[in-house]
Amino acid sequence: MRSLKLAVFALFLATSGSTGLEDAAFWDRVATQELHSALRVSVNERRARNVVLFVGDGMGPNTITAARIYKGQLAGEGRDAERGLLAFERFPHVALLKTYNTDKQVSDSASTATALFSGVKSNYKTVGLDANVKLGDCESSLNKSYRADSILKWAQDAGKLTGFVTNTRLTHATPAALYAHSAHRSWECEAKMPRSAAKCKDIARQMVEDEPGKSINVILGGGRQCLVSNVTITAKDPIDTWACRRGDRLDLIRMWEEEKRAKGVSHSVVSKNKELTEVDFEKTDFLLGVFTNGFLQYEHERDAEISPSLAEMTVAAIKTLNKGPNGFILVVESGMIDQAHHRGTARKALDETVALEKAVEEALKLVDLNETLVIVTADHTHTLSIAGYPVRGTSIMGIAYKSKSDALNYTTLSYATGTEIKFYPFNATHVTRPDPSTEDVESFEYKQHSAISTDEGVHGGGEVTAYAIGPWSHLFQSVHEQNYVAHVVGFASKIGNYEVATNGAATMELVTMSAVLICLLFN
Ligand SMILES: *[C@@H]1O[C@H](CO)[C@@H](O)[C@H](O)[C@H]1NC(C)=O
Ligand SMILES: *[C@@H]1O[C@H](CO)[C@@H](O)[C@H](O)[C@H]1NC(C)=O
Ligand SMILES: *[C@@H]1O[C@H](CO)[C@@H](O)[C@H](O)[C@H]1NC(C)=O
Ligand SMILES: *[C@@H]1O[C@H](CO)[C@@H](O)[C@H](O)[C@H]1NC(C)=O
Ligand SMILES: *[C@@H]1O[C@H](CO)[C@@H](O)[C@H](O)[C@H]1NC(C)=O
Repeated sequence: MRSLKLAVFALFLATSGSTGLEDAAFWDRVATQELHSALRVSVNERRARNVVLFVGDGMGPNTITAARIYKGQLAGEGRDAERGLLAFERFPHVALLKTYNTDKQVSDSASTATALFSGVKSNYKTVGLDANVKLGDCESSLNKSYRADSILKWAQDAGKLTGFVTNTRLTHATPAALYAHSAHRSWECEAKMPRSAAKCKDIARQMVEDEPGKSINVILGGGRQCLVSNVTITAKDPIDTWACRRGDRLDLIRMWEEEKRAKGVSHSVVSKNKELTEVDFEKTDFLLGVFTNGFLQYEHERDAEISPSLAEMTVAAIKTLNKGPNGFILVVESGMIDQAHHRGTARKALDETVALEKAVEEALKLVDLNETLVIVTADHTHTLSIAGYPVRGTSIMGIAYKSKSDALNYTTLSYATGTEIKFYPFNATHVTRPDPSTEDVESFEYKQHSAISTDEGVHGGGEVTAYAIGPWSHLFQSVHEQNYVAHVVGFASKIGNYEVATNGAATMELVTMSAVLICLLFN
């Protein structure tokens, strides 16, 4: 009855004429529509057959706010851009996640990925291990009781198909936490491993030789230089000199292929975007795509001959995975948001966030939300700030205002840490900010001002958001520890510790859990 009245009221408001002025009637109408959708949210407690987990690396709340305004302004929405929402912001359920790890107030991507994917918080820069293993301690990382299994392992044990997609290297910190156990995220290939780690296996070899890596059905991304020795280098496909570069003469791509052939499973290896479009997904059970030596290109400068977009990889992955009898789990990482923030180039970070949104939209077209839990979250934030007081409709990349202190303009976006401060001119007593009005602040290459000079922009320590839709998405509510995400995935799809023979037994487990909780509360 109440929702009927609201619907009638909403209809009345919607037809009562718009003057363009955001007056009281306007805001009543907006709120009524929001109330109306909030009242229509239903709860789906069926088992999640599939899970698609999107991770925007470094996609903190400020990045999302700025990206939605950026997207609206690119579409010519002017002063309406602030009112827009990215597709995943329309999901019915949202939670905040605390991202500190076991030894750092502000964490890195390896430890936050371990929390997200294995349900266990861990030490800075360690991959797929619990807090017993200190950074670089190869010996203790070999102890099985310190190894944390990921949701991909839980899924495989339950007979589900699994996959991951990234626009960074396949062996980079975030995807590595899905299949590897490594005391240091830099051990992507043998060339970065110290002598003290001689007993440990590099991350790339774990992906190809060990479980759950070798049973992952879909692996799409960059990082050939960690998988293959003596890769071909071209101007369009350079080597990432910061990262590991394989030199032990192994060709792990060929080894992956040989293993699949020996097993007699249908498989496909692709190295170019065009080859990916030619894959017969229906007939392919294992798909490996390695498109670049280092990271894939940023979306705004992507050469479509070489790199697929995140959306294209997501579509290929879902089409390959969406045919098993027991469903699938897919993880999609947009790592270039983080890369852009590290370099201090905010526009690239916003553009990559919009590219992630596109991947989410494409995924939503292919899955049945009645049986697929879709989650969009981040691993950690960055130090991006949105400063006062630009008027409505001001370009999000533009000038906010003039400082009353040094009488110079400043941009709306800036960073607390970054690489640019060293270019600030100074005399004996003063540092002078360059005037951004004389700089090309709209450019993809523009580095916003930062307060503190560091070798690269560092991560932020604030909460990240998690948006969810589909079965059990209502478990995303309130403020949680980040490792809660893996547990919701396990609980919703009844895998890992939550695996049960039948739905009846699942209900029993819930009853037992409630009973335990009640005992705890009343004792
Ligand atoms: C592995 O860890 C367990 C638990 O801490 C410990 O009891 C065991 O001795 C360790 N094993 C080795 C080989 O260090
Ligand atoms: C391959 O790489 C290794 C290690 O970087 C190097 O020693 C070797 O000379 C290279 N071989 C060729 C054929 O380039
Ligand atoms: C969702 O699944 C349930 C149970 O299989 C079914 O009753 C319902 O009609 C489905 N809803 C949609 C929209 O497909
Ligand atoms: C500050 O920026 C505005 C545009 O936003 C410009 O019109 C003005 O000239 C700039 N002021 C200075 C002092 O550079
Ligand atoms: C340094 O710059 C400040 C600000 O422009 C100015 O007030 C001051 O006089 C300068 N000092 C010297 C020694 O040039």
